[in-house]
Amino acid sequence: MTLLMKNPDSLKKLQQEVRDAVGNKGKVDEDDLYKLDYLKAVVKEALRLYPVLPLLAPRESRDRCVLAGYEIPKKTLVFVNAWAVGRDPKCWEQPEEFEPERFMHSSVDYKGTDFELIPFGSGRRGCPGMLLGATTVELALSNLVYSFDWELPEGTKDIDTSKTAGTVIHKKIPLQLMAKVPGR
Ligand code: HEM
Repeated sequence: MTLLMKNPDSLKKLQQEVRDAVGNKGKVDEDDLYKLDYLKAVVKEALRLYPVLPLLAPRESRDRCVLAGYEIPKKTLVFVNAWAVGRDPKCWEQPEEFEPERFMHSSVDYKGTDFELIPFGSGRRGCPGMLLGATTVELALSNLVYSFDWELPEGTKDIDTSKTAGTVIHKKIPLQLMAKVPGR
């Protein structure tokens, strides 16, 4: 929601997609999600820029190996910086920009085989809750934009995007918004 409020054109586009696909049924169901390509692109883009676990889960190397010229001894604690990977200019055009459109005609997914997008990690210790997690986010977000129009409270000029340091990313200052029922 923070990224969408900072990018109102994307919010409008998402709202239009969800409202067109769902009609006046009253809420978005899990069965509607397959129709919502832009929603999926928005969630991917948010997870690219703000991976929930920016350093994934720590690993320990089983054997000595050499990676890109660096020697990694046996039993080294290894962190994978998913935050940096998601913003790597070698992998992404305009990496700091929020552009869900980049995923609209791309097969890049977070399922763990496209190593430029790894918000759920990868491999045998990758997140086993990936589908539940992604579906929950898609369902919650699509219902928020389906049911309400969103505004900043009066007097709010800028939206703060700073975050806390730690294993899991949190916003330092919670987002405060006004929900308006459309047409009222
Ligand atoms: C959007 C939601 C979620 C995100 C972004 C997320 C992200 C992650 C990440 C990055 C890891 C570490 C993977 C790695 O180091 O390769 C992980 C591990 C894990 N996740 Fe999730 N997760 C989410 C939701 C869930 C849910 C809903 C569940 C359970 C119902 C879950 C259960 C786990 C477990 C058990 C592990 C540890 C797996 C292991 O060490 O073998 N996650 N998750």
